[in-house]
Amino acid sequence: SVVALSNKFGVAPAQVLGLLTYASERKLRPYGLTIHVGSQCERPATWVEALRLCQQVWFEAQQAGFNLKLLSLGGGLPATYTPNGMTAPQTAATICTTLAESDWIKTSTLSFEPGRAIVANAGTMIASVIGLAERATGNWAYLDAGVFHGLFEACAAGGGMPFQLSANHSGRPKQLYNLGGPTCDGFDVPFEKRLLPELRIGDRLAIHDTGAYSTEMASTFNGFPIPIVYALEELERRSAKTIDS
Ligand SMILES: Cc1ncc(COP(=O)(O)O)c(C=O)c1O
Repeated sequence: SVVALSNKFGVAPAQVLGLLTYASERKLRPYGLTIHVGSQCERPATWVEALRLCQQVWFEAQQAGFNLKLLSLGGGLPATYTPNGMTAPQTAATICTTLAESDWIKTSTLSFEPGRAIVANAGTMIASVIGLAERATGNWAYLDAGVFHGLFEACAAGGGMPFQLSANHSGRPKQLYNLGGPTCDGFDVPFEKRLLPELRIGDRLAIHDTGAYSTEMASTFNGFPIPIVYALEELERRSAKTIDS
């Protein structure tokens, strides 16, 4: 997965029985298992491995007398960032095929907690070019949105999600750009070496599929505002001219 969660949450399969026992000794009724394969998991084999581990743990729990009723597969279903990326329906098909190999889960409830797969493709961030520079490291364009203002996941520490960009003057000759955010922080570089039509001050860039983990993770660091969110219906009500200004 692009964003690993196993360093922060969960227990190793070998620890589950102990945890279920601990809970029931304290008069809690163990109800099921929950996993999270990590966010944006595009590798089918990871889902298959996770399901097989769940099955193993589930049987062990059953043998120890626990009557589990729920398997929550957590989040991790991928959003589509690139044309060839693994999709949520493809992942669901892998999950169904793996589960159909045995009937261990058929009498229990299966749930998902999808986040990114539902909302990422619903958002497009529009940023304006506010500065340009030629440096030893290449051409730079500076945007009014950056790592601290909705694009945390674009930087390596945020997972380096492969957001696709498009510019409003697509006919101009293309060149490579590093794209910096508006703040003074050297870490505020959401994109490096992106091939884009020649950029000028005031041009707009669309940063696609930014509906998940974007503005809700943003801050007003350095005095820059969190991007305004418009719902599509709201946009349709306004004229293009109003939005442009
Ligand atoms: C417990 C839990 N479930 C579901 C999700 C949603 O994950 P995703 O956006 O990868 O679908 C998260 C996200 O961190 C989570 O912590």
